[in-house]
Amino acid sequence: MCGIVAYVGPRDAQPILLDALSRLEYRGYDSAGLAILNGKGVEVRKKSGRIQELASACQQKPVQGQIGISHTRWATHGGATDINAHPHLDASGRLALVHNGVVENYLELRARLVGHGHKFVSETDTEVLAHLVGDAFAASKTKGEEKLVEAVRSAMKQVQGTLGIAVIHSDLPGLVVGARRGSPLVIGIGHGENFLASDTQALAPYTNRVVILKDQEVVALKAERYDIASPLGIRSDIQIEEIENGVATSDKGPYPHYMLKEIYEQTSSIQNAFRGRLNPHEATAKLGGLNLSSHELRKIERISILGCGTALHAGMVGKYLIETLAKIPVETHYASEFRYGDSPTSPNTLFFAVSQSGETADTLGALREAQRRGFPCLGICNHVSSTIARESNGGVYMHSGPEIGVAATKSFTSQVMIFTLLGLLLGRLRSLSASHGQEILQAIESLPQKITQVLDRSDETKKVAQKYAEAKSMLFLGRLANFPIALEGALKMKEVTYIHAEGYPSAELKHGVIALIDKETPTVLIAPRDGVYDKNLGSLQEIKARGGRVIAVAHETDAKIRDLADAVLPVPETHPLLQPLLNVIPLQLLSYHSAVALGRDVDKPRNLAKSVTVE
Ligand code: G6P
Repeated sequence: MCGIVAYVGPRDAQPILLDALSRLEYRGYDSAGLAILNGKGVEVRKKSGRIQELASACQQKPVQGQIGISHTRWATHGGATDINAHPHLDASGRLALVHNGVVENYLELRARLVGHGHKFVSETDTEVLAHLVGDAFAASKTKGEEKLVEAVRSAMKQVQGTLGIAVIHSDLPGLVVGARRGSPLVIGIGHGENFLASDTQALAPYTNRVVILKDQEVVALKAERYDIASPLGIRSDIQIEEIENGVATSDKGPYPHYMLKEIYEQTSSIQNAFRGRLNPHEATAKLGGLNLSSHELRKIERISILGCGTALHAGMVGKYLIETLAKIPVETHYASEFRYGDSPTSPNTLFFAVSQSGETADTLGALREAQRRGFPCLGICNHVSSTIARESNGGVYMHSGPEIGVAATKSFTSQVMIFTLLGLLLGRLRSLSASHGQEILQAIESLPQKITQVLDRSDETKKVAQKYAEAKSMLFLGRLANFPIALEGALKMKEVTYIHAEGYPSAELKHGVIALIDKETPTVLIAPRDGVYDKNLGSLQEIKARGGRVIAVAHETDAKIRDLADAVLPVPETHPLLQPLLNVIPLQLLSYHSAVALGRDVDKPRNLAKSVTVE
């Protein structure tokens, strides 16, 4: 996976590549590199670590030239080293290539190339691809720019797996060739200059006019023109799209980390998710982008939700909301499991693909599989014009604003809010009463102010975090809609602190997990006063009886829990269906403050990427 940027035009390529690349760091940040045609040949700089490391290397020894390719990496094959960083060169050293994707048959291809005398310096699958293109280029009788296009096509035929690539060759000083299969690639059209990038965000300061490359297409990109062809022939019906140029702010404001900033932004991001979407007259919600009439919505018999990580956890809360409000059976799927599994689908099922970035490869693959089976699939995305947003049959935008911290926070609460609106809408088209609908609407409207109340107590959470941050392992327990909140709390803790954490339904404690309880393993128990409150208190007692320590997420007025638990993360009371939206916030803060106490890299935790664009 990874992010790609290429530039061809009259300006110096290096600063443009570095700047555009920095907007793709969410796709991976373990190493970065660039290659520029400097008039004599291909000059490469690459460094393990963040893009900033590459920028420093380029500052010390700048590369001059007006055409180049660049890459930010999330390692799949081979460690995060300077050598494994992209670009990779072919055997001649005159061709450089960057790649987003996975070459599945690379071992077999590599063995064959080694048999023909090729030498490899890295452990990557990408270097094999560079050598294949280089070999095809050297063997080709074709003249001119078509030669590199043909060489790329020939390599694509030999490679199994996914790819988005950009290639330059020192024999062709005005040309970048790009190609895609599976991994996204967009052409940015400038005035007398052109760009290639993994997504439109990278190009925001340079152009808002883009052409989205389709699967299997190859583009020959020059400063003044671009020609796109698939194996079926030249694309003549090129549609230039004008995208909204939302340049992601890199300003942390008064906050030391993006994660904290984004946790605090939830007061407004949640409002952005419901603004203009409440219909108090009909006690319902209005969601214009679904592209389905009321009649079609009434005919839905089942809902399937697809997602990964935090997005899937939001979908799991969504299941609870829709089943309760609309009485429609809902199933949730890890997108990666759905796309390759045999899980049966029933007629009249509506699918939802949930993804903050709209670029997660597994979610995209699952969306395509649902559509292949003939089902409509709607997207719940944050990034406007992302691949999932474009390929889905309609959907709902989250309008959360850019989420830069790798650990998803505000996107989670926005996704859950959208499921609340969906539950309300579908419920009111069925049996949900107007008075129940009004209760939900009122609870939604009072939510931002209650979120502020939770955030105002961040310092209390900080003290708890500082006390428990030395734990090696933690348990997170919750029931019903708070079970996914337990999963999300555990995921946040793992992601940013590297403390092992597991989320379970509270009642599962006694079926094995209880063996882990001791005084070194704190349990976070989500126990609002709801229908299963007494059951949760039972779990609390069981933990205490075995010497365990309990941090309870509970209503601020709950004196009983205050007596029993070792620490309380208080939350205000709201409608029980919306309570999970408040309960998750102290857990986000708990993981954030624990990570800070442990000196972790909060916004860019090790081994992760904001959006995983490979399977
Ligand atoms: C990665 C991130 C997670 C995120 C997941 C889904 O694994 O590290 O934080 O929840 O991808 O991302 P998406 O963009 O599809 O919501």
